[in-house]
Amino acid sequence: MNPENRKIFIFSDIRQISDFVIDKWLKIADNAIKDKGHFTIALSGGKTPVILYNNLADLKKPAPWDKTHLFLVDERFVPSNDKDSNFNMMNQTFLGRLKIPATNIHPIQTETDSPQTSALRYEQDLKSFFMAEQNEFPEFDLILLGIGEDGHTASLFPGTPSITETKHLSVAVHMSDTSKKDRITLTFPVINNARHVFFLISGADKAGIVKEVIETENSSLPASMVRPKNGKLFFLLAENAGSLLTRVKI
Ligand code: 6PG
Repeated sequence: MNPENRKIFIFSDIRQISDFVIDKWLKIADNAIKDKGHFTIALSGGKTPVILYNNLADLKKPAPWDKTHLFLVDERFVPSNDKDSNFNMMNQTFLGRLKIPATNIHPIQTETDSPQTSALRYEQDLKSFFMAEQNEFPEFDLILLGIGEDGHTASLFPGTPSITETKHLSVAVHMSDTSKKDRITLTFPVINNARHVFFLISGADKAGIVKEVIETENSSLPASMVRPKNGKLFFLLAENAGSLLTRVKI
């Protein structure tokens, strides 16, 4: 990854991050639609992006939803109406509140017999939408990521086979902690093929992992393995999440 393509931004809070993301989202979408007629984005779950998703639903200015294709970065292997479902959260916060053609929303189907089946189905959906040839990877215009305190991102957790996947576009992730649901996730070849990747990070509890991911040269944490080949990587940090950074130019 070209170091020039990595930028770190510090904001007072997640609300400011949300405003920044919406502004960039619309600009990237406008360019993508001019360039190829549509805009593709992959969205993460978790708590951090909820404000952003609500703000998107409340957006006063027009957005090109008819030419926007929304995918999920990852999903828990639960029914789509489950409280833990990322799709359910996105549907409640914005997808279900906007006039977006149903064919533009690409959830990870979890009403299958296993997370593996769900991952294979999602991979087929990705391949057919992006018309990806064998060994080719989709090129998302924008991917929004979060980070866990253990350094995971998407559902790429430390020590799981998912982080070494080099062929599949999406894989199932078995969670050893039985209190957590098994997952389906995009893999690094897809994430690192994106034109823009934004980390949205807020909370003092993330300050330690943010410092490690950003300031440790060869960190092997999954979030450190997000290195877009040609795309831009933005760390969008609330002040409290960036409070331990000392060695990087902001
Ligand atoms: C998920 C997300 C996950 C999330 C991080 C941060 O399915 O939960 O994809 O990777 O982004 O765990 O979650 P918070 O935003 O809730 O801190």
